[in-house]
Amino acid sequence: MRTSLLSDWLAQRLDKTGTEPAYRQLQRLLREAILAHELPAGRKLPSSRMLATELGIARNTVIQVYEQLAVEGYLLAGTGSGTFVADSTPDQQMLGNPATDASGETGRLSQRGQRLVASAGVSRRQWGAFVPGVADVTRFPAAVWSRLQARHMRNPQPELLSYAPPGGYAPLRVALADYLRNARSVRCEPEQIIITTGIHQSVDLAVRLLCDPGDEVWTEDPCYWGVRSVMQASGLALKPIPVDQEGICPSSEDLAQPPRMMLVTPSHQYPLGMVMSLARRRMLLEFARQRDCWIIEDDYDSEFRYANRPLMSLQGMDDANRVIYVGSFGKILYPGLRIGYLVVPPALAEPFAVALAELYREGQLLQQAVLADFIAEGHFGAHIRRMRNVYGTRREALMHEISRRFGEDVPVRGDEAGLHLVASLPDHLDDRQLAHDALAAGIATRPLSGYYSHADQATRGLLLGYACVQDEDIARHFSTLARVMEDHLQLR
Ligand SMILES: Cc1ncc(COP(=O)(O)O)c(C=O)c1O
Repeated sequence: MRTSLLSDWLAQRLDKTGTEPAYRQLQRLLREAILAHELPAGRKLPSSRMLATELGIARNTVIQVYEQLAVEGYLLAGTGSGTFVADSTPDQQMLGNPATDASGETGRLSQRGQRLVASAGVSRRQWGAFVPGVADVTRFPAAVWSRLQARHMRNPQPELLSYAPPGGYAPLRVALADYLRNARSVRCEPEQIIITTGIHQSVDLAVRLLCDPGDEVWTEDPCYWGVRSVMQASGLALKPIPVDQEGICPSSEDLAQPPRMMLVTPSHQYPLGMVMSLARRRMLLEFARQRDCWIIEDDYDSEFRYANRPLMSLQGMDDANRVIYVGSFGKILYPGLRIGYLVVPPALAEPFAVALAELYREGQLLQQAVLADFIAEGHFGAHIRRMRNVYGTRREALMHEISRRFGEDVPVRGDEAGLHLVASLPDHLDDRQLAHDALAAGIATRPLSGYYSHADQATRGLLLGYACVQDEDIARHFSTLARVMEDHLQLR
């Protein structure tokens, strides 16, 4: 566009009746014309006086626009000889000569990004019959929590509104160390406790600090898809190891090639529910000591054990400082709280605390302070005891319905602890299709085969969460599910 035509072009586009000020319109139009090469580099612009007269706007407006665009690099001004369009085209030599033109592929993900999204297990449904692993958040003692919160909020200490110190809020680490020593036989001092946003973040931090991309990590097969994805996204080589009745069961060939790390759920195998035997625990600890590998103990829900007391943690048996214990408040209080923790060996306490603060710039100290009071004043223990009774009743109600409708046809497993059980199905049955059809009928479950590394070798079943279904709704919702199950089992 020739300079003489510019005034006409601008005059046609300037809307003096609209709400956008002339200053902003002129700036936008000139920017667009320069980016679209309508005004090429080196082109001289009309003087501010001339342009203001031709457009019928204040000269100051044009001066301001020219100055602003000069600051942004679109124009060269103030040389005395006029205002010119600056040369801002990218230097092709500097950019090199790409083999392909990637323009237009703005949605392209990295390979690990593609893998993560393609294999994601996360569900849109987080509440209702029979979503596995969700606490009954309607029973959360909100009045107590809000009283404790108000106490801190009345006159908040500046440090509570700031970033978290490395490792988290000190009184919470003290209260938690006390609780874990007593309730879970964890051997720890408060300094070894690192407060995180949950098990996902705890595992993420542990693999970043203890593994390098490409390192081999053992996971149980089947296992929780969430932490599997966290580790996969860190570029680790995951090796699924089958489980038997005693927990993770590496073969002699597996044992000959020790991994850098393994992730296990000894108190309540996820999702099948068995407890790791003492012999297997001792074998793993000795193996980790001799072969210098790390064990992550995911103790996500073992507070809720129905027939007997919670079991001793693997960490409590570890004399060689190989176990990193991870836990969460999501299953006990409510998932959206997003507070969890790691217990690390003493030598790792300082690096973990520093790395956490460095990577994630933690905060939420007010919530941590409320939680510290909640534990120290006995509300936490009372809530666990109360909810163990509530969930125990719901578990029995669900087991009763399953057995009443299906008897021996649908054996139940993994019901001794936690917030879900597994309804076993015959091997020929497509549990994914069944879960899909159940969802269409309004009931959320998860197919057991989805937790295995190879669906074709998986045991079939449905994970049914009973914790977040009210007692009086269990029979009704199970009846809906049972009709879908009967169709698949060809019992009708
Ligand atoms: C075995 C297991 N580990 C960890 C988690 C997630 O823990 P968080 O919510 O603290 O990240 C879950 C959630 O369902 C789980 O089942």
